[in-house]
Amino acid sequence: MRLTDAEQAMFDGSKGAAVARAMDLLVRYGEALGAERLVETRNVAGAFNASTPSVRHIAEDGFDRVYSELNLDSDETVEIPHVAVPTCQLITGIDNDNFATQGVDPDLADLQKRSERYLGRRGINMMCTCTPYQVGNVPVRGEHCAWMESSAVIYANSVLGARTNVEGKESTGAAALTGRIPYWGLHLPENRFAQHLVRVEAEVDDMADWGVLGYFTGFAVEEDIPAFEGLSHQPSLVKLKHFGAAAASSGGVELYHMPGVTPEAPTLDAAFGPNARPEPIVYGAAERKRTWERLQNASDRKLDFVMLGCPHNSIDQMALIAELLEGKRIHADTALWVHTPRAIRQIADRSGFSEIIEAAGGVVMSDTCPSISRRLPQGVRVIATDSAKQAHYLPAIAKVQGWFGSVEQCVNSAIAGEWLGVVQ
Ligand code: F3S
Repeated sequence: MRLTDAEQAMFDGSKGAAVARAMDLLVRYGEALGAERLVETRNVAGAFNASTPSVRHIAEDGFDRVYSELNLDSDETVEIPHVAVPTCQLITGIDNDNFATQGVDPDLADLQKRSERYLGRRGINMMCTCTPYQVGNVPVRGEHCAWMESSAVIYANSVLGARTNVEGKESTGAAALTGRIPYWGLHLPENRFAQHLVRVEAEVDDMADWGVLGYFTGFAVEEDIPAFEGLSHQPSLVKLKHFGAAAASSGGVELYHMPGVTPEAPTLDAAFGPNARPEPIVYGAAERKRTWERLQNASDRKLDFVMLGCPHNSIDQMALIAELLEGKRIHADTALWVHTPRAIRQIADRSGFSEIIEAAGGVVMSDTCPSISRRLPQGVRVIATDSAKQAHYLPAIAKVQGWFGSVEQCVNSAIAGEWLGVVQ
């Protein structure tokens, strides 16, 4: 690993013990990956907050200890300085306001709040969402980032044309203190060309349809980079958010190209660059139906819990849910939790959407989600969700049955107390 003079000085301790630890971690990590150098980043999105029971005993020794152990992989506690570059907190395990509904012990919620004050004083912005790009962290094309969270990484790489690999707690912890990350993988332009062609012959328009196409794509290309042809409708932020989250769940897709939509691929030729264009993988009506069926992991129709907002909802999605719930009442045996970034919740509150959702018996949650927190309403056996990603993970994590469908199907089923969806 070649270091610049400034990096070598940080490695040698010119900026203190924590930065030296961070440089040591980045060098070891980069060498393991075969990186020859580091690259400067001014955009870090990681997980720093102390919000799980397992962190409690570490936090008894102070938050410097938590950062040292979990974000720098250091047995020795070092004093953590202000971060070197703009850094944000991704999703956490606890909603600071709805922790009782989540079944979180108040002491643990208090620990998270104290942890946030500690991190905030060191310059880490408490966005507390898996969609930082919805609330102000929007890297520009070509910008080198150090982001965790697979659904955010695929959005940043593909839709925004930024450059990041899927980082971890330790590498983002070190990047925040140094403004560096190993230069490998998707930071290198030559690694960003398409390897597979997906020919879309089925109509893909509704948000659920984009999730199903993403889920199909992840299985089809695994960790490779696909390009698409034949798309019949222009997607939006919300549709690409669902598409990418699904592709990163069924596979490990971190980058895709859609000519005419994503910035690095104005044409298919540009998407493939020097790579030979392979035989297309066809996504037609049969593949769409099979994939939709694959997302149904339930047999009981009596519904205990509906989860909306994975990835966290946009304000448009909050408006749609409020419209569907206006004047209605969610079934007494069914819980509905709607997840959105705290910044968007503010807008939803002021726009009257939260009030409508809550008057119908729903809960508007921020800061967390059931897959990350591993907390659902008590006694849940059967869930439904409008997210292919959540339908993929939650049944396995929580040992529940799971239905997948459109927002309308989910909301109407929450009102009925039973799953009304049909495979479309
Ligand atoms: Fe976000 Fe949780 Fe889904 S982190 S992408 S809401 S699984």
